[in-house]
Amino acid sequence: MEKIRILIAGYGNVGRGVVAALKRNPDMELAGIISRSPDRVRKEVTDVPVLAFDDVAGFLSLKADVAILCGGSKNDLPQQGPWMAQYMNTVDSFDNHSRVPEYFHTMDEAAKKGCHVSIISTGWDPGIFSLERTLGSAFLPGSRAYGFYGLGPKGGLSMGHSDALRTIPGVVDARQFTHAVPEALERVRKGENPAFEPGDMHTRECFVVAAPDADKEEIEKTIKAMPGYFAPYKTVVNFISQEELNEKYKGFPHDGTVAAAGVTGDGNSAAIEYRCVWGSNPEATASVLVAHARAAARLFAEGRKGAFTILDIPPAYFSQYDREELLAHWI
Ligand SMILES: NC(=O)c1ccc[n+]([C@@H]2O[C@H](COP(=O)([O-])OP(=O)(O)OC[C@H]3O[C@@H](n4cnc5c(N)ncnc54)[C@H](OP(=O)(O)O)[C@@H]3O)[C@@H](O)[C@H]2O)c1
Repeated sequence: MEKIRILIAGYGNVGRGVVAALKRNPDMELAGIISRSPDRVRKEVTDVPVLAFDDVAGFLSLKADVAILCGGSKNDLPQQGPWMAQYMNTVDSFDNHSRVPEYFHTMDEAAKKGCHVSIISTGWDPGIFSLERTLGSAFLPGSRAYGFYGLGPKGGLSMGHSDALRTIPGVVDARQFTHAVPEALERVRKGENPAFEPGDMHTRECFVVAAPDADKEEIEKTIKAMPGYFAPYKTVVNFISQEELNEKYKGFPHDGTVAAAGVTGDGNSAAIEYRCVWGSNPEATASVLVAHARAAARLFAEGRKGAFTILDIPPAYFSQYDREELLAHWI
């Protein structure tokens, strides 16, 4: 059987994760990488072609079936997504939830025009959790599905919030761990379906390395007042050394659960929960993206075109097993 050939477009944490994930999927192979900084990537990757992003003839000659777009959601994907969809099938992890409808329509138009398949906004959230929220509300009508993050003792590392901390003057480096509020999760599990305010479900713990001459009190005040990011949340700020940050808080651990609870029949309790625990958020996200690339190749082989989300794809299309194997052992 011919392997599904993957092009990685953009090489950061998730791009690295895709390289690792492809090694665990024997029906797929890495055709090459494109990057805006190919010299940087060539220092790390030596066994496949690494080309400049705009070397269109070059990357088309690699005969990849699907491009996995690993650029940032804020600035890269809105521009790179529609551009790539004209040349090949794409999969991406666009995670700006409020802009998903707009991004979907842009990608749908571009992919239809290019006669390609573009699977957007997948990973774990959006992605797996989008599916679980949808299933929760379909199987338990009237329930609400809630996402809780950082259930373990260390919490979950939020890259976006860590980036936000690093923009504050006087902050040299920083990491932000999100913690779920256990009492809030308990209320959901009991089927109360509460109307939470922002800040009721999670707390935030910051580990900050300050410049030697920085005013730590001022930094803490600035963090706690940051609208959207920290202001609505109970936030703890810890100042630590760079060595301690590197040693104790390395890697990209994250976890979360989608919980929906309600009643069936005349009032019997019913609850659904789906938990993810990741030692590495970008590697796990990449693993999900790779399975979606398999689905993209299959949809394309059927002559489908346009944009898709995880909600539009039969789960069997993600699997490396064939239909008979799934029927016999996995259903
Ligand atoms: N849906 C989900 O569950 C989920 C989960 C996690 C992340 N995400 C999304 O995935 C996106 C990518 O995350 P990430 O952690 O991989 O971001 P990242 O490491 O910052 O990489 C983003 C882009 O920045 C460039 N880059 C990376 N390192 C660089 C360096 N040292 N010097 C210069 N350029 C560099 C790369 O583009 P070039 O190679 O073109 O330079 C890369 O594609 C995030 O924006 C987020 O939206 C989604």
